[in-house]
Amino acid sequence: MPQARRLPAVAVASPPFVGREAMGYNPTFDGAAAGRSSSDPQELPVKIAVIGLGYVGLPLAMVFAEAGIEVVGIEAVASRCDEINAGRSYIQDVPGESLAAMVAEGLLHATTDYAATEDCDADIICLPTPLNANREPDLTLVKDATVKLAGHLRRGQLVTLESTTYPGTTRDELAPILEAGSGLKAGVDFHVAFSPERVDPGRTDYTTKSTPKVIGGLTPACTARALEVYKPALDHVVPVSTPEVAEMTKLLENIFRSVNIALMNELAMLCDRMRIDVWEVIDAAATKPFGFMKFQPGPGLGGHCIPIDPFYLSWKAREFDFWTEFIELAGKVNENMPYFCVEKLHRALNTRGKSLNGAKVLVLGVAYKADIDDLRESPALKVIRLLRAQGADVRYHDAYCPQLPELEMSSVPLEGERPYAAYDVVAIVTAHSAVDYRVVAQEADLVVDFRNATAGLSSAGNVWKL
Ligand SMILES: NC(=O)c1ccc[n+]([C@@H]2O[C@H](COP(=O)([O-])OP(=O)(O)OC[C@H]3O[C@@H](n4cnc5c(N)ncnc54)[C@H](O)[C@@H]3O)[C@@H](O)[C@H]2O)c1
Repeated sequence: MPQARRLPAVAVASPPFVGREAMGYNPTFDGAAAGRSSSDPQELPVKIAVIGLGYVGLPLAMVFAEAGIEVVGIEAVASRCDEINAGRSYIQDVPGESLAAMVAEGLLHATTDYAATEDCDADIICLPTPLNANREPDLTLVKDATVKLAGHLRRGQLVTLESTTYPGTTRDELAPILEAGSGLKAGVDFHVAFSPERVDPGRTDYTTKSTPKVIGGLTPACTARALEVYKPALDHVVPVSTPEVAEMTKLLENIFRSVNIALMNELAMLCDRMRIDVWEVIDAAATKPFGFMKFQPGPGLGGHCIPIDPFYLSWKAREFDFWTEFIELAGKVNENMPYFCVEKLHRALNTRGKSLNGAKVLVLGVAYKADIDDLRESPALKVIRLLRAQGADVRYHDAYCPQLPELEMSSVPLEGERPYAAYDVVAIVTAHSAVDYRVVAQEADLVVDFRNATAGLSSAGNVWKL
């Protein structure tokens, strides 16, 4: 196995980071107090452990490996480890050839064994943070993994949490578990930081490497160490004063999206009633060169972040006798959208003298957004369930998602002459760019387009829009 590249000499007192004085950055950081000698930055071979190789962890592992830093991935699913060690990618944003090259160079391998973290300089946790059945934060996966990590923690290591969570998790949950399991003191014997992942699956203009990375350590020394570890692999690092600031930053970003999408969804429902084309309104407003940011309505929120993360904050806020009304209202509006979509399909069919009961419905696109294969929290699943509950005969087509195991459905092929004409209505729920919407609009008897995929196409009055 080749030698991992040594950590570039990032002097703790060097000046590349914005606002470091403002965050209490300590240019005279005493490395010895944090368990390492002041000469370590030049000497230390960097080896990173990434815990959880999913949508966040695998791209991050690749960014470090591509910077010449050896990475061990700790992944609970053994078959995923096998895939990686064989040089195969199961995450759409990680090209198989790039992954195979890193594995071949000995810069990336995966294992289920937490003992492999022992000779690492940093452990980066990228595990899911879902809501439980009562829609409260469920940190079980993160806490269980932290217990395992603690058993292998050694002096001088950095532990970073990247999973989205409420402010206080890193300080009040993670650090005590690490201390209890290791007998070491956080911020003194080892470093702890929070750094939110901002990956947007399918996006190509900004990647894990090029998206600025916010980092907040438990102490200024923890922040300084985290900056040293991340900086060789990432284009921009943004230090903040505490883990709580970093945790809240990620939540603000997601809540900002959720609230603005909810506003567009509410306007879309009003425009529907007033017979105004909401898409035309939004496009016209977006011509204003300042003071307006374009968000789009749609059939509901999907993915791991926006439908879930805001509720981490509203749960935590209650502890402070505070009600986060924007979050709750946005959640209510956004979660209602699949019901609105089904009601609109019902109205569209009515105009043809048909009812949903018994109607043949083709749902076009089921991933939670265009051009990706991620089904998590996809509103299409709710739309299909609601349609089935009304007695509709539902099929779907999505080249990215050939199976819907939880609904026991498979994507139907669109073959032969005029495949869309076989349905009473075609519902465009996710607008993958490979689909020719001109053909959909021409061939289908009735189309309800929840994504404005048919924008600019002339139709014979058979296309309804959200
Ligand atoms: N997916 C996104 O677009 C995105 C964007 C920004 C932030 N996030 C946040 O990042 C975190 C991770 O999300 P994700 O989308 O990568 O999740 P994911 O489900 O895609 O990946 C998690 C991985 O961890 C593995 N795993 C589960 N338990 C484990 C354990 N105990 N030890 C080792 N591996 C284990 C799973 O098998 C899986 O491969 C979440 O908090 C999420 O909110 C996600």
